[in-house]
Amino acid sequence: MSFAKYILPALAASQMAFAATCGDTTIDAQSDADGIASCSKLKGDITISKSFSGSLSLAGIETVTGSIICSGGENVTDITAASLTSIGDAFNLEGLTRLTQLAFSELTSVGSIKWNALPKLQSLNFDAGVNHAGDVSIQNTGLTSLDGISLKTVNLFEIENNRDLQKININNLQNATDLINFSGNYDALEIELPNLGTGTNMTFRNISSISVPSLEKLTGQLGFWGTEFMTFSAPNLTSTGDLVFMDNSKLSNISMPVLTKVNGGFNIARNDKLSTIDLPKLETVTGAIDFSGMFNNVDLDGLTDVEGGFNLQSTEGTFNCTHFQNIRKTVIKGTFHCDAKTNNPTTSNGKSGTTSSTGSSTSATSSGAAVANGASMAVGGVAAFFYTLAQLL
Ligand SMILES: *[C@@H]1O[C@H](CO)[C@@H](O)[C@H](O)[C@H]1NC(C)=O
Ligand SMILES: *[C@@H]1O[C@H](CO)[C@@H](O)[C@H](O)[C@H]1NC(C)=O
Ligand SMILES: *[C@@H]1O[C@H](CO)[C@@H](O)[C@H](O)[C@H]1NC(C)=O
Ligand SMILES: *[C@@H]1O[C@H](CO)[C@@H](O)[C@H](O)[C@H]1NC(C)=O
Ligand SMILES: *[C@@H]1O[C@H](CO)[C@@H](O)[C@H](O)[C@H]1NC(C)=O
Ligand SMILES: *[C@@H]1O[C@H](CO)[C@@H](O)[C@H](O)[C@H]1NC(C)=O
Ligand SMILES: *[C@@H]1O[C@H](CO)[C@@H](O)[C@H](O)[C@H]1NC(C)=O
Ligand SMILES: *[C@@H]1O[C@H](CO)[C@@H](O)[C@H](O)[C@H]1NC(C)=O
Repeated sequence: MSFAKYILPALAASQMAFAATCGDTTIDAQSDADGIASCSKLKGDITISKSFSGSLSLAGIETVTGSIICSGGENVTDITAASLTSIGDAFNLEGLTRLTQLAFSELTSVGSIKWNALPKLQSLNFDAGVNHAGDVSIQNTGLTSLDGISLKTVNLFEIENNRDLQKININNLQNATDLINFSGNYDALEIELPNLGTGTNMTFRNISSISVPSLEKLTGQLGFWGTEFMTFSAPNLTSTGDLVFMDNSKLSNISMPVLTKVNGGFNIARNDKLSTIDLPKLETVTGAIDFSGMFNNVDLDGLTDVEGGFNLQSTEGTFNCTHFQNIRKTVIKGTFHCDAKTNNPTTSNGKSGTTSSTGSSTSATSSGAAVANGASMAVGGVAAFFYTLAQLL
């Protein structure tokens, strides 16, 4: 009798404890984590409260169906989850300004990653490697590499303002289904995406090298601003959306030998070292072609269809504007401006085409309005935005 009297409440208590602890859990102290160590599968979210201080060990848990979240936990120094293999939903960490270590040695799958303001986090102890994730956004961390992130596919991939990031090689990445944006990282950042074959939009700023040997097709924009590399080579790229090369001070060689189609506008401006624009296979540009700078040669001999305008201006051109004038009627649907030798080459919206000249506000209104059509207008807008941004930075 007395046995049942004791065992029943104890059982009820342990079951209550079980029900309470293998679901949504808030962690104020290590004891809260110890309380869920028996949950190999936790059905819910783990929220690390911002007052948590020191080292956190999430032992025992193998799967979290929901999210792991911590916002503003400035005193969290490290988080270890030795047996965790998957996080169903988000892995969000923000403002953990003293965090130095994330040790998730078995983690391979995460719904999404969003990390921001983790300045002391320099590397990831992700021994197995995360090979499955949806959106990945990593900003303002101290990471020096992304070793441990070994995705095969990704949706959004934003790697921004990680000032110590020097080299990224995502060997497994084959397909990106949303924007890839690298910006404001270490100036000498080297990016290697050796097996990336398809993507949507890819924008790069403040990088020193990029390798995309397998890239074949982008459905959205490919753009480079303020980079430090000398050669851009995309040996297998056949088509992209808008294509932009702007303010790349060392760029001397753009090699896209099999590029046949640009589904949008194609802008090249203020790349003062670029002397040759060699695009022998380019047939179709659905927006405008807008190239200005100090280049000599331009090979666009394969062009059969430019839906927008055509603006080609250089200080040093040895190309023949008569040739382009001749193909104009059959190939170029929009307005036409070609000047091989002008002291002041400008983009279609009147911005300077070189870093040494000043541009002209008169041509801004006249040729800008004239060259732009639907697609190219959007490019002008984006380009102008980045130009303004570059001025601000
Ligand atoms: C972090 O620790 C300091 C010093 O103990 C304390 O003053 C501060 O409130 C803590 N921060 C949070 C978010 O609890
Ligand atoms: C890339 O991923 C998307 C979405 O998962 C898929 O629809 C598409 O077929 C993939 N493309 C390739 C070439 O694998
Ligand atoms: C890429 O990131 C930079 C810096 O955060 C941002 O300013 C820019 O708008 C982003 N680009 C796109 C296309 O979202
Ligand atoms: C480039 O494309 C060709 C033809 O589709 C293919 O055989 C080759 O493997 C590709 N190269 C790379 C590095 O992906
Ligand atoms: C993606 O590219 C398309 C076409 O090039 C462009 O219209 C769109 O604004 C881009 N989206 C982002 C998020 O950059
Ligand atoms: C990034 O590049 C822009 C030019 O596009 C430049 O103005 C800016 O200073 C660079 N930022 C860093 C952090 O190097
Ligand atoms: C431009 O780069 C490509 C690819 O790296 C190379 O094959 C080509 O010879 C280079 N052209 C010049 C003029 O340097
Ligand atoms: C320019 O091209 C036109 C027609 O293609 C040709 O008649 C003319 O001789 C060329 N001029 C020069 C300087 O090569």
